[in-house]
Formats: sequence, C-alpha cells, structure tokens
Amino acid sequence: MSVTFCNLVLDHPVINGSGTFDAIAARRAFGDALLERFPFAAFVSKTVTVATRQGNPPERLWELPGGLMNSIGLPNKGLERFLAEDLPELAAMPVPVIVNVMGCSRGEVSASVEAFDGRPDVAALELNVSCPNVETGLVMGADPWELSRLLEAVRPLTAKPLIVKLTPNATDVAEVARAAEAAGASALSLINTLRGMALDPVSGEPWLGGGTGGVSGPAIRAIALAQVHSVARSVELPIVGMGGVQCGQDALDLMRAGADLVAVGTESFRDPAAGLRIAAELDQLLANSAV
Ligand SMILES: Cc1cc2nc3c(=O)[nH]c(=O)nc-3n(C[C@H](O)[C@H](O)[C@H](O)COP(=O)(O)O)c2cc1C
Repeated sequence: MSVTFCNLVLDHPVINGSGTFDAIAARRAFGDALLERFPFAAFVSKTVTVATRQGNPPERLWELPGGLMNSIGLPNKGLERFLAEDLPELAAMPVPVIVNVMGCSRGEVSASVEAFDGRPDVAALELNVSCPNVETGLVMGADPWELSRLLEAVRPLTAKPLIVKLTPNATDVAEVARAAEAAGASALSLINTLRGMALDPVSGEPWLGGGTGGVSGPAIRAIALAQVHSVARSVELPIVGMGGVQCGQDALDLMRAGADLVAVGTESFRDPAAGLRIAAELDQLLANSAV
C-alpha cells in the first residue's frame, strides 16, 4: 500500500489528525513497542504557535452521541521549546514528521515556517489556518483573499511541502481550496472540526470553557466526505481526507471521494492502535476490490 505524497514515500495512506495522538507520551507509555508498531505512516504534530499557549479554561470536552466536542484551545509550549525539546523526540519516530503550525498574523506564520525550514527532520509543514488574523479580523482559512495573502508571504520561505488544513467553517470550501492552490499550496488537508456548543444541563450556561468547541468523530463523517468530494473536483492538489474515520471502509470512502491520504483523529482516543487497524482493513478492501 506504499504511497507517494508530496515526494514523501509512505508505507500506507493512513496518518494521524493533528492534536489527536501524542507520540511522545505514547512512547513513554508503550516504550519501543510503539516504534515497532507505529500506527501511522507519517506523524503530524499538534499545532505549534510562536508563543506558549495555555489553552482554554475547563471544561474542555463534551461527549456527543456521535463523537466528541473539544475546546482545548491549542495549548502548546511554543516554537522555541518545541524545537529544542519535542522535535528531537519526534525525529526518533520511524516515520516522516509533519509539523502543524498556526499563527494569528502573516508575520507569526512566517516566523514558524522560517524556523522549520532549516530542520532536515521536518518532512513537511501543515498550516492550521483556523485562526482569525488579528490585523484584519478575517479567519485566514475561511476567506480566499486572506489565505492567498498568507501563502504569498510564506511560500517563498521554504521549499518544504506546505499542506494547508482547511476549515469546514467556510462559506465555500472549494473556493478557498482553489485560492490555496493558486497561491502555491503543495497539498490540502480537510476537514478540521466544526463549531458546536453544549449547555450545562443545570445552569444553562455554555459547558465548555471556550464557549463553543470543535465537533469531531463519526458525527462529521458525511460532511467530511462531501467537502473532500467537492474540493477534489476543484483542484489538482493531493488531499489528506479526515473526519470521523473509524474503519477501513470510512478510509476507502474518503479515498474514493478524492483523498490521497486519510487521517485518523478522534478514533485514536478510543483505540491508540486504530491507525494500524484501519490501514490493514483498507489494504484488505483494496485487495478485494482489485479482484
Ligand atoms: C482533541 C482534539 C484536538 C485537536 N487538535 C488539533 C490541533 O492541534 N491542530 C489541528 O489542526 N487540528 C486539531 N484537531 C482536529 C483534528 O486534527 C481533525 O481535523 C478533526 O478532529 C477531524 O478528524 P476526526 O473526526 O477523525 O477526529 C483536534 C481534534 C481533536 C478531537
């Protein structure tokens, strides 16, 4: 099932969704067994920002009948400490490392892209463009003009593949995808979480500390399928499809809709080895359909 994606040769087409698998914590929990049976063909880091972020106040999670809603708020130790402490540990994983970065201005994203450009242990960068630009108030990934300006700023800063992670909270995701392609994106990944809300059953106030949260898991699978299908018909770029993947058939559906790779997110919280299982199921389904 080996696949080439942005010049990276991967053992199979299943990777993780950013922020849903902590490879460093998993290495501590499972030891070298993790390296021998790494669940993904490439590892995508949690979002890294230039400055340290504490994330949102509690509560941070709400379980839904069909998935999960989180308001984690992208806590991370910041660019400098990620480079010094985490990247060397991630580089020891047996698969290529893709670093997911976010900034709230073009300057901030540029600083991250420049910082990773010189690191041979980083195979590609994924741009999480779900943050509003503090200068314009526009969510970078929801507005084609804003996204074009961002890519025009960062594309010249690195020869590494730039994967743009699209937000589903956009009026027309295909239009945003076309803008990303025209401005030099190497690939697209979608979908990120959808905005949702839960109320405290007693007080009636928002349950999540961030007010709203991001919905993920099986509840968003049909939306992911529709958006991947639409984007794949609008651009030539390779696509990482994600949203509610729990089994090989879900992965196959996304690939049939136009994804080149499939990412597993929420399912890894239930089963940390889900990536391997889903890759094996996909392999079986592809073998059967080839007969
Ligand atoms: C707890 C949690 C944390 C996440 N953190 C990030 C993140 O740091 N950066 C990012 O780009 N996406 C993040 N995501 C979004 C996932 O990478 C993925 O796009 C989304 O969850 C849809 O896939 P799924 O339904 O398989 O979970 C997070 C999702 C969850 C559930």
